[in-house]
Amino acid sequence: MSDVPVGPEVTDDPVQAARALRAGRLVAFPTETVYGLGALARRPEAVARIFAVKGRPPDHPLIVHLAAADDLGRWASTVPPVAAALAEALWPGPLTLLVPRGEAVPDVVTGGRPTVGLRVPDHPVALAVLAAVGDGVAAPSANRYGRVSPTTAAHVVADLGADVDLVLDGGACAVGVESTIVDCTQDVPVVLRPGGVTLDQLAAVLGHPVATWAGDGAPRAPGMHAAHYAPTARLVVVDATDDVAAAVAALGPASVGVLAPVAVPGLGDDVVELEPVGPPERFAHLLYDRLRQADRLGLDALVVVAPPPVGVGAAVVDRLARAARGSGPPPTG
Ligand code: TXA
Ligand code: MG
Repeated sequence: MSDVPVGPEVTDDPVQAARALRAGRLVAFPTETVYGLGALARRPEAVARIFAVKGRPPDHPLIVHLAAADDLGRWASTVPPVAAALAEALWPGPLTLLVPRGEAVPDVVTGGRPTVGLRVPDHPVALAVLAAVGDGVAAPSANRYGRVSPTTAAHVVADLGADVDLVLDGGACAVGVESTIVDCTQDVPVVLRPGGVTLDQLAAVLGHPVATWAGDGAPRAPGMHAAHYAPTARLVVVDATDDVAAAVAALGPASVGVLAPVAVPGLGDDVVELEPVGPPERFAHLLYDRLRQADRLGLDALVVVAPPPVGVGAAVVDRLARAARGSGPPPTG
C-alpha cells in the first residue's frame, strides 16, 4: 500500500487529449475562461460520466465546444440571425449562444431541452484539441458541483483526482470567469449569465443594448442556482474598502482573510490580507485562485471588496454574490 494519492495523467499534448476523447474518455482541458471537463458530445455514455464525476443533476445542460463558427449550423436546427451575428463577431471567445438544438445533440447533453449551448473557445490549446477531435466536445467547468471553478491544471487535479482520465495542461486561464451566456431563441436576445464577453461588446455587435435576465429569484437556467462557485470559507462581500473593518468585526473570533482590488489600510494583525487583485480584468483572472487560497489557508471567512460592476467586473460581482450564498462548510448532523 502506498500513501501517494493516485492522480490523473497530465499532458500538454492536444493530440493525445483528442485521442482520449475519441476513445470515450473524460479529459479536462484549458479554455480562456476556466478548465472544462470534456467528453465527446455524441457519446451519451461518456457524457453521462461527466454528470457522475461532478455530482451534477442530470437536468443541468452542458455547453458543446466547437472548433469553428462554421460548425454552428451542424449543431443547431436553425441559426437565429442574432446568433449568427454574435458568432461571427465574437467567436472564438468567452461567449455561449443558446440556439434551437439540432438532431446531432443527444438528450443527455441538453437535459432533454429544445435548446443547446454552443461556443468556440479562444484558446490555442482548446482549439487544437477540438480541431483534432473533429467533433463537438460537451464540457462543464471541471469542478465538483457547486464549488469553485478551476483556472489551472493543478486546480483540476486537486478537485477531481483520478476521476478524470486525463488533464491537458495549458497554463492559467486568461479570462478567469466563465463565458457570457446569451439566449438567442427568444424574440429578443437575453443575457442569462454575465461573463467574459461584456454587455458593451454585445451591444456593439447588435446595435442596441441587450437585456439581462431579471427574474424573481428563480434560476435563470438550470444549474444557475443562487448558490454556486462556493469555497468552504464563509464569504462576505462588501462594496468598499471602508466597509471591511466592520465586516471583519462582525465575524467575531474567526480566522478571517481579506481580498480587495487594492491594499486595505488599518487591518488588524490577526487578519490575513491576500495579495490585492487590481483592476476588474485582473480580479476576474485571479478570483477563483484566491477563493481556493482562502481554503488552502484554512480561513473561516473571507471578506471580499467587490469591483465596480462594469465590463468583466459584472461577472465577478455575479460570481461573488453566488459564492457568498453557497459558501461555508457543508451542514453536519
Ligand atoms: O466558460 C464556460 O462557459 C465554461 C467553459 C468550460 O467553456 N463552461 C461552463 O459550463 O461554465 P458550466 O456547465 O459550468 O455552466 C454552463 C451553464 C450551466 O448553468 C447550464 O445550465 C447552462 O450553462 N446551459 C447550458 N446549456 C443550456 C441550455 N440549453 N439551456 C439553458 N442553460 C444552459
Ligand atoms: Mg460550472
